[in-house]
Formats: sequence, C-alpha cells, structure tokens
Amino acid sequence: MQGATRPPQERILHSDNLTTERPTFVTHLECSLTGERYPADQVHNLSRAGKPLLVRYDLDGVKRAVTRAELAARPSDLWRYRELLPVRRVADIVSLGEAMTPLVPLANLDKLLGGGDLLVKDESRLPTGSFKARGLVMAVSMAKALGITHMAMPTNGNAGAALAAYASRAGIRTTVFCPEDTPDVNVSEIALQGALVFRVNGLIDDCGKIVGEGREKVGWFDTSTLKEPYRIEGKKTMGLELAEQLGWELPDVILYPTGGGTGLIGMWKAFAELEAIGFIGKKRPRMVAVQAEGCAPMVRAFERGVEHAERWENAHTIAAGIRVPQAIGDFLILRAVRESGGFAIAVSDAAISSALDEVAREEGFLLCPEGAATYAAYKAALADGRICRDERAVLFNCASGLKYPLPRIEQRLDRHKPIDFSVFTPPPAHT
Ligand SMILES: Cc1ncc(COP(=O)(O)O)c(C=O)c1O
Repeated sequence: MQGATRPPQERILHSDNLTTERPTFVTHLECSLTGERYPADQVHNLSRAGKPLLVRYDLDGVKRAVTRAELAARPSDLWRYRELLPVRRVADIVSLGEAMTPLVPLANLDKLLGGGDLLVKDESRLPTGSFKARGLVMAVSMAKALGITHMAMPTNGNAGAALAAYASRAGIRTTVFCPEDTPDVNVSEIALQGALVFRVNGLIDDCGKIVGEGREKVGWFDTSTLKEPYRIEGKKTMGLELAEQLGWELPDVILYPTGGGTGLIGMWKAFAELEAIGFIGKKRPRMVAVQAEGCAPMVRAFERGVEHAERWENAHTIAAGIRVPQAIGDFLILRAVRESGGFAIAVSDAAISSALDEVAREEGFLLCPEGAATYAAYKAALADGRICRDERAVLFNCASGLKYPLPRIEQRLDRHKPIDFSVFTPPPAHT
C-alpha cells in the first residue's frame, strides 16, 4: 500500500478512540480525607494530609458533552470513556489495546448451586493479562503528559508487569520491587518488558518503603497504589464498563478481591459520577471486599467497626495479589463497603484452591487465585444468607489463571506397551 493512503497505526490498532481529540473535563484534584483542592495538570503524589488525591471533573459539562447513545457508537475499549478520564490529548495515550472485558455467566454453577445469577467480569483479557493494565495505562499516559522520565513501584507482580509494559512503550524508565516469593512469571515479564526489577526479602509495604526513600535519593516518581492519582481513574473504567454492559442497571452485589483496593474505590467513584451525569439512577450494588484469611486487615477493621485498618502481621496467602498487609486507602475501601450496605469477608487458602478447581472443572474457566477467592466468598455468603440466590452477583477475575504456578500433571502412557483402552471408557451411569 502507498504511504499516502495508509491508515495511521493507531487506527489499525483500535480505531478512533485513540485518534479523535475529545473535550476533557478535569477541574482539579481533591484530598480524599480533607477535601483540600489541588491544581490539575501538575505532578502530584499524596495530599498534604498524606492521603490519596482524587480527580474531580466538571460533571455538568460531561453530561452536556456525551450521551449514552454516543458512547454506544464508539469502539468498545477503555478509551471510549474519555470525557470521564484525565488524559487530555490523544498524543499522550499509551495504548496496547485495552479492549472491553466480557461478562461471563457461570450458568453450570448456577444450576449446581440451585439457582443464581452469577457473572464474572474477566479482566484476564487485558494487556499483560490483568486488570492492572487499566490503572497503569492511565498512570503512564499521565506521566508522559506531565514529562515524568523514571517511575518506580512496589508490586505483588501484576501491577509491576503493567507498569513495565506501558512505560517501556512510552520511553519511560522503570524500577520495580517485589516480595521475594512473587510468582516467577511476574518477575520475568517485568524484566522482559524493560524494567529493572528486584526481589526484596519482605512484603509489598517493605518494597514501598524503598520506593518512598528513592524519591529524594534517585528522583524517580512513586507509582505506588493510591500514592499517585491516576491509577484509580483507570480502574474506575471497570465500573463504567460494567454499568454499560448491564444496560445501565447495576448488579445487586459485586465481589472484589481486595488488596490495595483501587478497583473497589474506583468503581464506587465511577457509580457516583455516572449518577451525576444522569446515566444511572440511585441503585448501587452491595460492595463486598474479599480477602484471604492469612491477610485480612479490611475484614478485621470492618468487623470492629473502625475507620482505619491496622497492619496485618505475618501476612500469607496463595492469592499473591491480595497479600497487602496495610492499604493507604483503607478508609476509602471501608467507606465504600459500608455506604453500599456490603461487607468484608475472608476465605481460607483451601477454599480458594477448591473454588479454583470447581470453576475450572464445571465451567472450563481457569480463574486466578484472587478471582477464585471471590467465588469462594460468594458460596460462603450464599450459605450464611448474606447473598440470596436470586440476586445478580458479579465476581472479578482480575488476572489470567495462566500467570500462576499450575499443578504438574503426571499421567503418562508408554506407546511401546499395549494400551488398556477400557480406562478411557466412563462407567455406565446409574439409573
Ligand atoms: C490478580 C489480582 N487481584 C486482585 C488484586 C488486588 O487489587 P487492588 O489493589 O485493586 O485491591 C491484585 C493486586 O495486585 C491482583 O494482582
């Protein structure tokens, strides 16, 4: 094809959400604790009170600028929601193709459980195989817009992989620190995608301390969960997508595997913004924060009725992504859960493993352990009556099950010996 008639690369990747300038509506940033205002379009970390900053929009302007029908006509990726996102110019968007993720019904399990309306939002389809792509595509695009040249991050694996991918694409240097026992695949993908990565003999908050110290000493930008304002705006798109996919009618319950809680806080923010622009009504889902028994600071704080969560000592679980002993957005997680009439629930590693096996076997759907934790929590809540069978519940599968160590299968056949084919024939069904 002649150069003159060749469509631009962005159009080939995924069309005009990435090439059309659209009006943007960010007015300022706001301290999530004190409400203090900060100017937009400048580099920020935490507020002066040491709390996360939230991005605020001229929602009346958004309401006038876009309708539900106009949105529906746009290509189905995360960038269709541009009016509710912070990136102002298409030139700053660093995309790897953030397609809208499907809502997969678990109809076989609904039957086995005796009724139900269970859906999984399958975030494994995103670039780098996890929902961390949503937050990091936004953080890196904003870093590019603001001229940041070096980003650092503590990670349990998936976030570091997404940071490395997008930052390399944007020509930004990255340094990443993860706990010693982070799954090998995560450490390898981080390194392959261009970051300098270190295993640290500690947990994610120990890694976070190194990143914090390096701000002054190295001059890198601290990209830790909720210590920069834009990851939450990316994660917010889970709530925007979910609402749109369900015909602007939110489900009854959302079960979210909660570590730092960005997704839960982000979805709660999304619902408020959608109501303000008239896309949804007052109905909200009950937000359920799912944690592992070996690391459940939010569950403990929820049950004690307190606003802040104490650090969880000796945190351990097979669900690496939710092994977060202390979250800086603890009060925001707890506030969203309580305001929604939801709850926080812990499940054991054994329950996570058996949930993972059950969904894979019955539905052909290999969840990540964190996603499996939400199914284990759903079953526990059905059993104790906190969720009813006729309610529509959405589970979040935040990453691909293929990113985690899988059991080795040892069944073998020796093709040089006679094969006993009877072993392949199922026994007759009982009548
Ligand atoms: C697969 C997976 N699920 C859940 C989480 C927790 O997400 P959040 O920090 O939004 O609570 C993580 C975070 O690392 C993750 O990797």
